[in-house]
Amino acid sequence: MPPHIPVMQNIDLQGLRTLIRLDLNVPIDDGVITSEARIHAAIPTIEMALSKGAKVALLSHLGRPDPAALDGSYSLEPVAIKLQELINRPVRFLTDWVDGIDHSDDEIILCENTRYHIGETTNDEALSQQLASLCDVFVMDAFGASHRQHASTYGAVQFASQACIGPLMSQEIESLNQGLSDPEKPLVAIIGGAKVSSKLGVIEALAKICDHIIVGGGIANTFLLAQGLQTGNSLIEPDMIDAAKRILNMDQVNVPMPTDVRVGKEFSNETDAIIKTIEAIEPDDVILDIGPATAKLYAEVIKTANTIIWNGPVGVFEFAQFSHGTRALANAVKDNAGHTIVGGGDTVAVIEQYNMVDSISYISTGGGAFLEFIKSGTLPILDLLKQ
Ligand code: 3PG
Repeated sequence: MPPHIPVMQNIDLQGLRTLIRLDLNVPIDDGVITSEARIHAAIPTIEMALSKGAKVALLSHLGRPDPAALDGSYSLEPVAIKLQELINRPVRFLTDWVDGIDHSDDEIILCENTRYHIGETTNDEALSQQLASLCDVFVMDAFGASHRQHASTYGAVQFASQACIGPLMSQEIESLNQGLSDPEKPLVAIIGGAKVSSKLGVIEALAKICDHIIVGGGIANTFLLAQGLQTGNSLIEPDMIDAAKRILNMDQVNVPMPTDVRVGKEFSNETDAIIKTIEAIEPDDVILDIGPATAKLYAEVIKTANTIIWNGPVGVFEFAQFSHGTRALANAVKDNAGHTIVGGGDTVAVIEQYNMVDSISYISTGGGAFLEFIKSGTLPILDLLKQ
């Protein structure tokens, strides 16, 4: 961690009102939390603050509610219950907290969703000042939300009498720096997902440092088009063809392309999955996964890596018959003995689904923030804290 960024580990919190911004934005299906990863990741920070004698209150957002509608389905209450169970201490859930938090020692308070407040996502100055006034020390530990300039992230840091990052943020940044600044080569990135446009900056940044970039999903379709191949009725971005050509023509990075794919006739798990060579794509085919020969080729590339950065599945892995490519790549990453970094909700879901959590060197809690850090090598909040 650069020495000029204050970290919670080095701050005396004894008796201080400490407001910790976490990213407890977990997937909840019908009231049931389907991934506890972000809650588990927050626990060491909370325990460290308590062991330093802090009066601990926690902030987080959940989902993207309309602050004018106050929809109860975005309440953090299920998260408070789960946190209490996992940390094995009482957690007091506070619905009304913006006007003042009544702290007591040795207690954990979780405040209701920050996004229920008008001004949170617009980084309203008055709200930011109000949040900053609730504490003596503001700890920004929501790595997953650290690319957002919101009142409870950026704004509160700006106005807090003392602000720092927490241990999770430090760990995330150190791990990403290890992969990006001085990676043990060969460095292989796997970038999947629907759109080139949403990841172009990331792919361009990685192209400068990687030996190989494996592109997958809709992103690969646009790269296939850029090579003059047919993609039938698949998801493509014609505006991105030139950008894809530029990356394919870069000398320093190899972008292996699919030689076969699994196609259907529509975006559905019910469609018949057929393996086709890339030259045999018909106008009504929809590419939904890589084929077995491509999976083998990519696995060989992954085998050579000493560092791997992975974001995004290479097929529609939610549909069982189109999950084979992503699974094959997950197995190759799992078998790699080098430094492996995985980020992004979908990719972490793949790792969890295939029980590979213990085989990955570092699983980031960030999606957008993970990509932003790869693209820019920093985050707005870090630049602010450096000041
Ligand atoms: C995430 O899940 O990526 C973070 O919690 C940020 O959420 P957001 O994209 O709704 O700001």
